[in-house]
Amino acid sequence: MNILEESSRRLMQRLAEFAEYSDEPDGRLTRLYLSPAYLGACERFCQWARIIGLTPYMDAVGNIRARYEGRRVGAPALMIGSHIDTVRNAGRYDGNLGALAALSVVEMLIQRRERLEIAIEIVAFGDEEGVRFPTAMTGSRALAGMLSPNWLDAKDDDDVSLRDALMASGCSPELAQQARARDVFAFVELHIEQGPRLEAEGLAIGTVTAINGASRLEVRVLGSAGHAGSVPMELRRDALCAAAEMVLAVEREGIKAGDVVGTVGRINALPGAINVIPGVVTFSVDVRSTSDQTRQQSVSKLEANFRNIAGRRGAVAEVTQTHNANAYECDNRIVSGLDAAVAACGQKVFHLSSGAGHDAMIMGQICPAGMLFVRCAGGISHNPLESITLADCEIGLATLFEFVRTVRPDFEAA
Ligand code: GLV
Ligand code: MN
Ligand code: MN
Repeated sequence: MNILEESSRRLMQRLAEFAEYSDEPDGRLTRLYLSPAYLGACERFCQWARIIGLTPYMDAVGNIRARYEGRRVGAPALMIGSHIDTVRNAGRYDGNLGALAALSVVEMLIQRRERLEIAIEIVAFGDEEGVRFPTAMTGSRALAGMLSPNWLDAKDDDDVSLRDALMASGCSPELAQQARARDVFAFVELHIEQGPRLEAEGLAIGTVTAINGASRLEVRVLGSAGHAGSVPMELRRDALCAAAEMVLAVEREGIKAGDVVGTVGRINALPGAINVIPGVVTFSVDVRSTSDQTRQQSVSKLEANFRNIAGRRGAVAEVTQTHNANAYECDNRIVSGLDAAVAACGQKVFHLSSGAGHDAMIMGQICPAGMLFVRCAGGISHNPLESITLADCEIGLATLFEFVRTVRPDFEAA
């Protein structure tokens, strides 16, 4: 077995073991940012990094980072990695593949006793998914120096602030500025596709050319709680009925606007009793598009729509925007370099865009960034059925390895 085969097998085994770091007791994978399972996974990641001779650390916002020095100390660094937080009831590959593959790339270099002209910075990001707090991509935003002023005040469903969660995890949120990436000349992320195109093309790997932008809203509908038996229908101010109309407005906007997808993934009605008219409802809205202008128009239309619906029903709609990431066109030089690596690994060069958001779109604000997608079965993701084959994992790892070994800080060929 050659180093690459061995490394790919080890990577798949690590992904299987890593999936056991979950906040759920029943075998499902949920690993929310800064939860006990997240911190356990961070420690396991650090152990693996230490075993291969690196000195990993958790930065001020809970990312794990490690540097593999180049031939010259202080060489410009290529950053590689992805996120290790997950959605609820997740698959094991989203994010984790790219974070653990970064470790495998450095492990292979060390096995081959190979130092490069460049340094490699490995990163395992937290909070890419934005599931626990009304924030998203906190980890990469910190590296890019893009945290919003009040980000630490965000609270989870248990009223724990991001500030307190970070401090309880041994992080120093007040030093977030120090987490900024320095001397990183480029960022590359290996990720599963999370869609069906590669499978339809019969290809294991593709180069990403662009990542769709996203907006997220938190909507609070205030109606009036009351007795389910005694308040006549025409006198009700039912917050859940108003929210139901709003949810359908999101779906309609996605269908009508073209190049927009809109999702309500979470809804909560209070007080939550069978015999009480809901008085307060909160729900999330996620809107994506390739065009920032189209997305922003849709968000504005939705906000106006929510207020109209609430007004008609004697309720109030409060809308807070919790996330806004513009679409990112991957850097041409990275795209060309990744294409060359794909071809050098004997694969057909294929370009595709990403409907999902990624840390690469944030890192792209401070350095050239790009991505490789690996085929996933049925295009299924954010679902425990997420799966990739060992053979495709090997192609993904080989391509990333080839890119790392050939890229130059000035992007000129060697
Ligand atoms: C990340 O998975 C996203 O929501 O796009
Ligand atoms: Mn992801
Ligand atoms: Mn995801």
